[in-house]
Amino acid sequence: MTAATTLAWLIALFIAISLLWRLFSQRQALPCPSWLGWMVELDNPFARTHRADFIVRQMLLAPGMTVLDAGCGPGRLSVPLAKAVGPAGSVVAADLQAGMLTRVRAKAQHAGIDNIDTRIVALGQGALETNRYDRVVMAAVLGEIPDARAALTELFGCLKPGGLLAIAELIFDPHFQRCGKVRALAEAAGFREHAHFGNAVAYLMLLERPD
Ligand SMILES: C[S@@+](CC[C@H](N)C(=O)[O-])C[C@H]1O[C@@H](n2cnc3c(N)ncnc32)[C@H](O)[C@@H]1O
Repeated sequence: MTAATTLAWLIALFIAISLLWRLFSQRQALPCPSWLGWMVELDNPFARTHRADFIVRQMLLAPGMTVLDAGCGPGRLSVPLAKAVGPAGSVVAADLQAGMLTRVRAKAQHAGIDNIDTRIVALGQGALETNRYDRVVMAAVLGEIPDARAALTELFGCLKPGGLLAIAELIFDPHFQRCGKVRALAEAAGFREHAHFGNAVAYLMLLERPD
């Protein structure tokens, strides 16, 4: 078998696994496993609106702010968020899986950052404090949560009035959520759309909890 044929087979296998995963996850919420964290950490070069630097730049952060990285995974966003809010600010990196949070702590330590707290949280189950955060980000997470409506209502409540929720979605994610669906769910939870970047297959939506 030539190298080109092997590569073609590998690509076909990757596409087949992605499609199967996508089909399966439509029936049952299936969180991205911790051992695939390395894949989540790679910033996708083909999707500007999903890159950590782009998301963090659009979140209108200021030093001293309190931020929730909801479904933080291995901390792709937590570390740049912590740098953006500075030592006077803080980031809570929340995820369902302890393995992801271990990775976040290792990255924070490596970067010499001590304003990240890690917390095991199942979003949508009402465990978050209310009126606590200036900003919340949720990138490639919504489709993994069994009750997306409950999760958005919870995130609305945990923001301070005037606070912003950033939702990023990317078509390559097997749990990708269409923009129209997310917008409708967010509006039902009480959010008002503040800004939108990208297109139908890769977007970042900024939603405001009205004052
Ligand atoms: C695809 S990863 C995205 C990680 C990160 N937001 C990023 O963009 O790099 C999705 C993460 O959401 C977490 N997750 C899924 N369902 C969750 C839930 N109900 N509550 C908290 N975290 C959840 C998974 O454990 C996983 O780490």
